[in-house]
Amino acid sequence: MAQRIVIQNVEMMNRRVEQQLREGRVDVAQYHGGTPTAIAWATMADDDHPRHHFDCFPGAELLPSEFGVVDLGPGSGKPCLKVIQPIMDRVRSLILVDVSPEMLTLAEKYIESSTDIEVTSIVADFLLDLNPIRTALDRYNLPLVFLCLGGTAGNFTIARSFTALQALMNQRDYLILDLGLYPTTNPIQALQKTADFYTSEQNCQFGLRFLEACGVSASYKNTYSEITEDPQDSGIFIITTYYRFPTDTSLSIGNESLFFRQGQSLRWLESRRFDKHKVSRYLTKYGLQSFGYKDLDHHALFLCGTHHHHIF
Ligand SMILES: C[S@@+](CC[C@H](N)C(=O)[O-])C[C@H]1O[C@@H](n2cnc3c(N)ncnc32)[C@H](O)[C@@H]1O
Repeated sequence: MAQRIVIQNVEMMNRRVEQQLREGRVDVAQYHGGTPTAIAWATMADDDHPRHHFDCFPGAELLPSEFGVVDLGPGSGKPCLKVIQPIMDRVRSLILVDVSPEMLTLAEKYIESSTDIEVTSIVADFLLDLNPIRTALDRYNLPLVFLCLGGTAGNFTIARSFTALQALMNQRDYLILDLGLYPTTNPIQALQKTADFYTSEQNCQFGLRFLEACGVSASYKNTYSEITEDPQDSGIFIITTYYRFPTDTSLSIGNESLFFRQGQSLRWLESRRFDKHKVSRYLTKYGLQSFGYKDLDHHALFLCGTHHHHIF
């Protein structure tokens, strides 16, 4: 039975959801909605097979003889186990960090049914709860290998996600960073396919689930997307997806209500795509460095350390 540490409680998550809805820009609020949202994610991710074909670990030979693994945003837990398969004999503890307690329950069940490894779950936002997460991790007294898989880091500005990732890491820790890529020939054509998937019925069964949790029945037909270049870091494309309210709509979160007018738009997904040749430059800008990577066509796994990394 997994041990659980709660850093972000339900009231805190509700306040974060409410604030993001007020600002018209949803990020972790997308995972609001408990078990139905968690199951909707796991179902959608399972159906999207190519994303999970990554049972490889770049630079495995660089890692120490024993360490803890910390998966930031494990989702169903399946990608985590796939990625650590080649290094499993050196993993002493597995720690899962997620904003959604219900997502953690799914991941714990999957991992515990497939391995004997000791699992601890931390309910927290890895972008906001940095100090309490690090304090909880220090108790293990092990070098740590962080995982941030499934494009999670690219769902936020990289100034925000890369800075948070390096702040969580000590000089002996490693990070496997999974980033979505775009091809350098005809990038817009390839990105448009992904944008079309984001607004599809299949993706929206998960993607709009947070609105159902706020009492709103939302159709994928009211979504649209755009592709832009990142204004902060040139060479990165952002696919942004919106929901346009077809009628005046009231949303409820905990005891609070929020009102959206007919025609008002809510940004519910931002996903970044990178040119694999430029990733090192972004890592350096935000205090990280890359020791190796594995190109998996539409995405790549980068083995990273901080600027102050020490090989022990
Ligand atoms: C895009 S899914 C990726 C899931 C999984 N890693 C994969 O590869 O399929 C993002 C996951 O991270 C969690 N998550 C997103 N942002 C987070 C944050 N800031 N702090 C903690 N968990 C977060 C979500 O609840 C979800 O489980």
